[in-house]
Amino acid sequence: MDKVIVTGGCGYIGAHTIVDLISKDYYVISIDDNSKSDPKILEGIQQITGKKVKNYQVDLKDKKALFEVLNKHKDAMGIIHFAAYKSVPESVEKPLKYYSNNLIGLTNLLEGVSKFEIPNFVFSSSCSVYGNVEKLPVSEDTPMGVAESPYARTKQMGEDILRDYVKSFDGTNNKAVNVVLLRYFNPVGAHPSGIIGEIPLGVPNNLTPFITQTAIGIREKVTVFGNDYATRDGSGLRDYIHVMDIADAHTKALQYLKEKPLTQNPEVFNLGTGNGVTVLEMIKAFEKVSGKSLNYVIGPRRPGDIEAIYADNQKAIKELGWKIQYNIDDMMEAAWKWEQKFRRG
Ligand code: WQD
Repeated sequence: MDKVIVTGGCGYIGAHTIVDLISKDYYVISIDDNSKSDPKILEGIQQITGKKVKNYQVDLKDKKALFEVLNKHKDAMGIIHFAAYKSVPESVEKPLKYYSNNLIGLTNLLEGVSKFEIPNFVFSSSCSVYGNVEKLPVSEDTPMGVAESPYARTKQMGEDILRDYVKSFDGTNNKAVNVVLLRYFNPVGAHPSGIIGEIPLGVPNNLTPFITQTAIGIREKVTVFGNDYATRDGSGLRDYIHVMDIADAHTKALQYLKEKPLTQNPEVFNLGTGNGVTVLEMIKAFEKVSGKSLNYVIGPRRPGDIEAIYADNQKAIKELGWKIQYNIDDMMEAAWKWEQKFRRG
């Protein structure tokens, strides 16, 4: 049974990816300091999969503690690296916290990958590396744009660190490592069982948790940030993708790395559905699947927001054998089911 180390395994995408990995017979261990996540989610993973996943509560910035864990699990066939802070507004408020956590965590981890010769590495990147794009859809060849936030810049720098790291392999001083970079678009939804999902931390910045918290009565209304964009109904347009589709792409990326020869450049893959959906369309989809009418108002644009983005996802479909299983209604249904279960405690 292949072993995989998942950093940030108690987080939203990390936990859903662990469920998918276990369903494909991987043995998984997690490294997560739980500074932004709750280890209780591991109980949900066990309920779904029947498997108990061990989490090492270690901060990746603590190299000594991190190396102890990697030494114990140096037989792992790969690492999937999710552990990073991801709030766009918080990164604007506390940039140094984001640069140190996201970048020192990454470089410590890569030093461990070389020291313990772990052969494969999957990096959690983001469509936010593209910034404001002119031509849509964005493909992997679309150059990285001006990052809209320190968060997005840590993803751009993370990718550059990995490109330089891979280039440094000359077969002698550094054993070569196979690397892929996965650029997520807007992850939404929860495991269909409703047993795990995104555990909210404070007031949500993202649209979908704000919709479900408004519907359940925790928030008074949803504010649509602007309806004067050059989109079909004036509201912002994004490529929303079900978290289980994102999870599946990670397992497929590991399979891809296992089979493919080492190359000098990390492969990049867009993980989006290829369909752009507007804020008002998301609200309508939620009202349709929940049968509830949502209280929302039109407000001013949110500073730093881009107008529209959606993916050309053909490379992941062709080279990873990935296919999208879930649509917007499935995402909204799963998000609403999770919100109701989570609040029932
Ligand atoms: C989506 C749309 C808002 C809240 C996210 C992550 C980022 C990255 C990309 C992974 C926008 C509108 C939102 C609200 C609204 N993911 N909105 N009212 O900004 O695209 O970025 O996906 O790396 O980390 O943050 O997502 O959900 O905040 O906004 O009108 O109350 O919904 O203007 O058009 P965003 P979001």
